[in-house]
Order: sequence, then structure tokens, then C-alpha cells
Amino acid sequence: MISFYLNHNKIDYSGNGEQTLLQYLRLAAGITSVKDGCSGQGACGACLVEIDGKARLSCTTKIKKLEGCGVLTMEGIPEDIRDVIADAFVEKGAVQCGFCTPGLIMRTKILFQENEHPTRDQIKKAINPHLCRCTGYIKIVDAIEEAAGQLRDGGPAKSSAQRITGNPSGVGDSLEKYQAKETAIGKRLFVNDMHLEGMVYGALRFSDHPRAKLLSIDTSEAENLRGVIRIFTAADIPGNRYTGLIIEDWPLMIAPREITRYIGDVIAGVVAEDEETARRAARLIKANYEVMDPVTDPVMALAPAAAEVHPGKPNLLEKCVVRRGDPIVSVLKNSAFVSSGVYETQRVEHAFLETEAAVALPDGDGIHLYSQGQGIYVDQKQVASLLGLDEEKVRVTQVPCGGGFGGREDMTVQGHAALFSWILKKPVKVHLTREESIIMHPKRHPVKMDISLGCDENGLLTALKLRATGDTGAYASVGTKVMERVAGHAAGGYHVPNVDIESLTVYTNNIPSGAMRGFGANQVNFALEGCVDELCRMGGFDRWKFRYENALENGKMTATGQVLEAGVGIKACLLALKDHFYAAKFAGLACGIKNSGVGNGMTDFSDVKIHILKGGRVLIEHGWTEMGQGIHNMAMQILHEETGIDTRLMDVITDTNASLPTGMTTSSRATSLLGNAIIDAAISLRNDLKENPLEQLEGRIYTGKYYCDWTTKPGSGTGKVITHYSYGYAAQLAVLNDEGKLEKIFAAHDAGKIMNPMLFEGQIQGAVHMGIGYALKEDLPMKEGRLLSTRLKDCGVLRSTETPEIEVIGIEERDPVGPYGAKGIGEIGLVPTASAIANAFAQFDGISRKKLPCG
Ligand code: FES
Repeated sequence: MISFYLNHNKIDYSGNGEQTLLQYLRLAAGITSVKDGCSGQGACGACLVEIDGKARLSCTTKIKKLEGCGVLTMEGIPEDIRDVIADAFVEKGAVQCGFCTPGLIMRTKILFQENEHPTRDQIKKAINPHLCRCTGYIKIVDAIEEAAGQLRDGGPAKSSAQRITGNPSGVGDSLEKYQAKETAIGKRLFVNDMHLEGMVYGALRFSDHPRAKLLSIDTSEAENLRGVIRIFTAADIPGNRYTGLIIEDWPLMIAPREITRYIGDVIAGVVAEDEETARRAARLIKANYEVMDPVTDPVMALAPAAAEVHPGKPNLLEKCVVRRGDPIVSVLKNSAFVSSGVYETQRVEHAFLETEAAVALPDGDGIHLYSQGQGIYVDQKQVASLLGLDEEKVRVTQVPCGGGFGGREDMTVQGHAALFSWILKKPVKVHLTREESIIMHPKRHPVKMDISLGCDENGLLTALKLRATGDTGAYASVGTKVMERVAGHAAGGYHVPNVDIESLTVYTNNIPSGAMRGFGANQVNFALEGCVDELCRMGGFDRWKFRYENALENGKMTATGQVLEAGVGIKACLLALKDHFYAAKFAGLACGIKNSGVGNGMTDFSDVKIHILKGGRVLIEHGWTEMGQGIHNMAMQILHEETGIDTRLMDVITDTNASLPTGMTTSSRATSLLGNAIIDAAISLRNDLKENPLEQLEGRIYTGKYYCDWTTKPGSGTGKVITHYSYGYAAQLAVLNDEGKLEKIFAAHDAGKIMNPMLFEGQIQGAVHMGIGYALKEDLPMKEGRLLSTRLKDCGVLRSTETPEIEVIGIEERDPVGPYGAKGIGEIGLVPTASAIANAFAQFDGISRKKLPCG
């Protein structure tokens, strides 16, 4: 028996003393404010609790060590202290996805016990054991500083209602994030926090080899483990075994005689009474294989003799070609200066703090799935296909997730949870450990780029030639779209009159590569901006002036030949950086452009429904995923702007029952598409409000839509080129100190219209933080189709003390399409970051960086 106090209540524990406190808290005590972000790796801080006045990670604390101890979680600390800290996090914009926040609030409370006057450096040091993938830590430090001041002053614990007094809720106001307080204190459930009556738990058995013929599976030992309910194999899938966002090439489970394609392939699944038993049983499943050499190098994969990753299909998935202007060889030959080189970027893990989880349960003659995915209508379609059901028999509810960054576009566990639940007729949860998450979901593409960039004797760009090869790994995912962005963004923020670009998307037996914030634009930006600086060195050109004179502006064209007709803000961004650039001793500069909308000939669209409920409450339904970025805020603020309805009366949900299909929440497009749809819906609502008070409109539903079907595929070669309906623009400056260490990033961003200054700044700070990591440390190396490490700490995500100062400068050049002139901002924050840093390093030591990471 082990006796300890949990939130002041005595616990007499007679179970397994080897159990971790985290498992006990979440599973036995039902305390889900304590988050599981790294599955016992001790890497993320999301599970932090207080034990006898000290901060402790509950994931690495065994119950047997707790005899006589006092354990406090969020539920056991004084509410007034909790509220001061949580409110400061909300007010300062330190809550994006909020998955890391309860752990940080506990850390803050413990810090204040030891130090009432922490400096910013002391705060950074205190939170260093915590990872936050969304914020870049700056607003977290702001919040802790603010809370410390309030507590010292005996300051008021303000209620949420007081906080938004004055109703700062229209477009341009820093309205606090929807459900931020509940999320911060752990009351809003993430998928893995959900528990349903009679729920059972699934675990997946992954392939032992990246490329091997699966000969047989022996499940007998696993079946005999007490608590195991059923083992599933490919034979149990009633419908189409293959899923995929663009190409259906990804089997939910590998079938006997099939050849595996990567180490994250699932060969079987187990459902048991609890998650630990399911996972133990999964390990007991034995498989026989005929092991084959994996295809791991995308260039070698294109050789005629290379083995086919998908037998019967070439390894070259797509070749994207963009040619414009005069023959490139002769233009480069006649250019005064030409910079040529081979640049390489690395595979990167999204490292969203919440690992994948899905809950499915029977729903009449169909299934109901709770998903963290970035596109629930695409989940719905794929699950229906797997189960052989009509789409309307599959209901998917989006649960705001703990970060996405593109890594939740492909399904991971949704299909398995749905299959297990459908067959067992029980609620089933499938959750991935951190290690499984790293193994399974698609990453950022490693890209090799052979590039030449020329300019004339006056420093005006003449020509660009690019040959890019992207390792898209085992499955198509959205790899072709990423490599199309490499091609389409190859000229970055500059006008280049002649281009000859080819980008190849290549299958290998590595982990699939798919969507990740920036989506190809940052890879090619690194190569391009390296060449720009080299041209400046060759010709003795001023680096700021060279960029300014070549920068895109209204009437100039992108790499694909799209003439940008209005709202191009790159020159304004460069002007905002000019003084900082010339004042710095060692500085690197880069410009960036990033599309909004998938475009490239595909339709971008959004629908919305606005329900007027009892008492004048308003429910907004749309199809976009909330993953920390604030799309629900955008919906509320735009509706307020159009109708004057108080945002405190509004709720927002995303559920397929509303039948408002969108594609993935991707390509920095949700605000512009949803915003225009809300503006459309608000026309009738506004008219009705002229005649009736809101309460009397109860029962009415207002619908709105916005469709963009006028974009063109890159290289299609006919008619007017409109690759994307909109772009975001940026310029960034990396400044080093006298020791050559990165000291500060100035990030000037043209958002068209800054819809919510606090969320805008948070998005850019978080993205820049990710971009700094991309430049300095982040990497996910593989050898022979296997990861060298599956530990979160080895992914290279920067911690608070490693993060330099980031100053965000907002620019507003009105976009012709976006609501109120708004442009996408989710991705562009890191497009120029690594390039600016690499160029700053070259200024310091004279060595050009051609490979990332380069820290
Ligand atoms: Fe910190 Fe998302 S807000 S991980």
C-alpha cells in the first residue's frame, strides 16, 4: 500500500507501484488537465505537477516514490492564483492550441513560490523544460511577467466577462482566443481526454521493416493475453483498404503477400480493455517477412534499375514543369553574374504537442468519429470508403487539436478507430505514443535543389533555372502539391523574367512527406536567397537595394507567370526593415511569398451556416479545423463586424452533420474563404436585424458561401495564369551578435488586413520560432529506411532559452480577394526565416550555407 495526498485528499494506492503518476492521474483519477505529450520521454513538460512544493514531471514519476507525498494538479491549487495566471495567459495571447498551457500554469505557480520577482531571463529558464510548438514562447514569458505583477499587487483576478468589457470583438481587435480559458486550465477536452461509457482501446502493430513482403502474421500469443478483445488484420476491412488525400495508395493495414513501404505501415491492430494491454498485445504479434533492400535515396530511386516502391508504378510520382521566357541556357550565358549551387533541406517532424488520437462509437446504423484531423469532411469520405458505407452514415466531429502545422492532413488513427468500433459495436479510442506518432505521420519534404540564378550588370535578375527533387517517401499524401509549390515559389519574392523549373516528386521507402507549414515555399526559398546573396557578393551589390529593386510589386509576375494585380507588400516589408538592416553589423536578409488557397487549378471553397438559437445565442457552423491558429475567432469577429452581434453570444462548431464540406485546413486559406462566406451569410441576417431584435430571429438559419474556381495549374501554358487567388508577403532580417550568435529576428509581414493583432503576432512569432529551429537544429535523419531516433528531444525543437528575440512588424497592403483585404498568415511566418539566418551566418564567417540545418 502506498499512501499519498492528491489535491489534499488521502489516496491509499494498492496497485502496481511501477505505474507512473501520469497514468494514475489520467486513467484512475480522471484528471485530464495533466497532458501526455511525450509518453514518458520526459521531454515536453505538459504533464507537470507539484509534489511537496516542487515541480515534477508526472510521466517520469513512479507511484512507488510517492509515499507520504502531497501531489497538486491544476484542480488542487487555489482558484484565485490559477485564475490570475490563466487569465494572463489568455490576455497576452499565450494560448494557441493550449495543449502545453496547463503544464506551464503549474510551472508558473511553482516559480512564484520561489521567486515573486522573476526577470524575463529567469522566466525563460524556468520554462525551459517545457515545449511549446505554437507560440515561440514570447507571449508565454509576457503572460508570466504580467501574472507575477498582478499577484505582487494582490491584483484582481478578473473574470472573462470583465476581460472583454468594451467588447473588443470586431475585425482588427485583439479578441481573446475562443475557449482559451477553459483550455488553459484543462477543462476543455482534447480527443485523448475523452472517456465514454464502455470504451475499449486500440493499439497498432507497425511493420518491422521498411520494405519487406509480409508472408504471415501470428496473432495467437496476443489473442491469449488477458484483456484482449480482438485482433484485426487487413482481412477485416469491409470496404476499400486504401486511403489518400489525392491518390489512394495508402493501405489502412498491409495484407499478407503485400510489400511494406515504410516503418509506419500497420500490419495489425489490437483492441483490449485498456490501452496498456492493447499495446502489450500488439508487441506479441509476430510476423514473417521476406526482407528486401529499401529504396531510400530519391535520386537513386529514379534510376532505371531501382526497385519500385509501389510495384507496377514508377517511383517518379509527378514532374512539375514551369518554363517561361527565353531559352534559359542562353539567358544565363549572357547574364553578367550567375550564382549556381546545390542546396539541400532536411526532413522535419511537426512535433505538435498532442499526439494523434481518435474516438469512434456506433451511431445508429453508422459511426460517429471524434477527430483531430485537419479536414473532417475528407476524414468522413475516407472512413466511409474504408467501411463500405455511404458518407452520410459517417459523422465526424472536429475536436480542436493540439497543433497541426499540416501534420494532421492525412489520416493516421481515425480509420483504425472507426474500423474497430464498427466491427465491435463499442466506443473505441486509438491513441499514438510519441514514438508511434513520429514513426507514422508524414513529415516536411527533404528537397535537393540544383539552382542557377543570373542577373545583369545593374543587378536586375535575368533568369532562374531549378531542378528540384523531393523525397515524398512511401505514400503520395500531398507530396505532389508540395513539390508544385517548390516550383511555383521558386522565384520567391522577386520578379524573374525567364525561368526553367522542374520539380520531381519521388517515392521512397522513407516516412512519407506531406504537408507542413510553408509547404515547399521555404525549401526553395533557402536555395534562392542563398543565390541572391552570392550575386550581391559577385557584383558588389548592396543586399537590401538588390532585393528592393528586384522585388515583386503590382504588375510583376511570380515564377509561374501570374501577374500580381494588386496588394503586393514585399517592398513595404523591405522598407520596414531598411534601418534595422543598415544598423546591424552582421545581418541576413530574405524575402518571402506564400500562396493562400490550394489553387493550381483546384477549387477553393467554403460554406457557412449561422443558426439563431434561444435567447439570441448564435451558433456558427463551418468546415475548418481549429488547431491553435484561431479560425473560430475569425468567424466570430467577422460576424460581429458585419452584424454587430456581440461575440459573447456566439459559439462555433465543426461537424459533418452540418453538411458544409471543405477540403483540408491548409494553404493559409481558411480565413479568406470562411470570411467571405460569413460576409455573404451576414447580408440577410443584417437585413433581418433591422426589423427584429436578435432574440426574435430564433430558429432562423443563414447560409453563405464563397467559391474560387478560377485558378490555373502551373505550366498549363494557355490563357491568363492565376496560380493562386492570393498570396502573403514578407521580408525578414536575422541579426547576429559579435560572437556570431543569432540575437534577433525582425519579421515584417504583409497581412493585408490584420484581423486580430494579438493572434497575428502569435502566429508569426510561432512560425518564426519554427523557422529558426529549421535553420539551426531541427532534423529527423533516417538510415536504411529507419529513424535514427524516435525521441522528441532529438527532433531539435527550440526551447525557450534557445529562442532569440522576435520582433513582428505588421504591414497592411489590401488584398483584392480576402475579406477586408486580409491575406493568409499561417504559413508565411517561416518562409524566409532559415534563408535570412543562413545569410547572416555567411556575413559573419564568409561561408555560404548550402545545407540545413546549419546552426
Ligand atoms: Fe503551446 Fe500549442 S500553445 S503547444
